[in-house]
Amino acid sequence: MPVDVMAGWRNRVSSILGTEYPILLGPMRLITLGELAAAVSKCGGFGQVAASGLEGEQLRNELVKARGLTKRPIGVNIPVYRPNAVEALEIAIEMGVKTVTTSAGNPARLMGRIREAGLKVLHKVSTVEMAKKAEVAGVDGVIATGFEAGGHVGREQITTMCLVPQLVDAVKVPVIAAGGIADARGIVAAFALGAEGVEMGTRFLATLECPAPSFYKERVRDAMCDETFLLGKEAMPIRVLKNEVTARVAGMEQPEADKVIISKGDASYVQSGGDPETAVMPCGQSAGMVKEIASVQEVFSRLTGGVDSILERLGQSFFGRRER
Ligand SMILES: Cc1cc2nc3c(=O)[nH]c(=O)nc-3n(C[C@H](O)[C@H](O)[C@H](O)COP(=O)(O)O)c2cc1C
Repeated sequence: MPVDVMAGWRNRVSSILGTEYPILLGPMRLITLGELAAAVSKCGGFGQVAASGLEGEQLRNELVKARGLTKRPIGVNIPVYRPNAVEALEIAIEMGVKTVTTSAGNPARLMGRIREAGLKVLHKVSTVEMAKKAEVAGVDGVIATGFEAGGHVGREQITTMCLVPQLVDAVKVPVIAAGGIADARGIVAAFALGAEGVEMGTRFLATLECPAPSFYKERVRDAMCDETFLLGKEAMPIRVLKNEVTARVAGMEQPEADKVIISKGDASYVQSGGDPETAVMPCGQSAGMVKEIASVQEVFSRLTGGVDSILERLGQSFFGRRER
């Protein structure tokens, strides 16, 4: 009997998201705006606009833009600790968003309003303790962010491979794996660990629809797995591409290094006239697997089609050739 791959994609996470696939576009500050989010949602994934770095009116405009491009579900990512978290949530509700993701803080702060408005929420965590807390607060699922991920990572330095199965054992809500996944092999591996969904940031950085400047996308495409660096180790660790800035920081005492990062700001990568040696460019270790800048549609069909053939191969090697 041929495997019904589509039935396999339908699970608790796709039903929370209202999508065809339990595949999320990782929210990326000032990068996952309306167009990139819509491109992922159009393919059957979950596109989301990152509220971080956007004024209320800008967030509303990006959601209007996304709505103009697709009627499929679009989410909003809200960093809980930011002063404008409540405003971002109100805008999401007003714009008809049905599922939000929260990060950087305790989601309990927003849960009352989320429930009142009938929204679903997935919270990003990097330890078992954080996941348990989020479950008690009432979230619908947790996004396990491993240490290999691009952008902010947990100070505890736990990798996706170790974090996902421990969370699956610790909580009843579904677990989504994030960090280090850039192709179909990563998706199958995440599901083998017990995840019911995946979130990818770095892979979608190197897409035609991504609004990051070309020098940034080209660096992601050309980087090897050892070309990322952890900035701000002692404060808020963030994984970025190595360049002159990271080399300078590497030679300093950490508190001094943290000052440099804070004074530079973490949004210098969005300046199209920027310099690849001085820009701070968040990126995950999975960049080593990204070999081209492709359209979201191409990336997506390789992800979903690739899962099919890996399952077929695994089925054959574990259980012998199936009768067709
Ligand atoms: C450029 C960049 C910006 C990011 N900004 C955010 C953000 O604003 N909020 C958030 O929750 N995660 C943010 N992340 C993390 C991603 O949403 C996602 O979880 C992560 O990229 C997954 O790991 P991967 O890079 O290995 O795919 C960012 C990641 C990158 C690469």
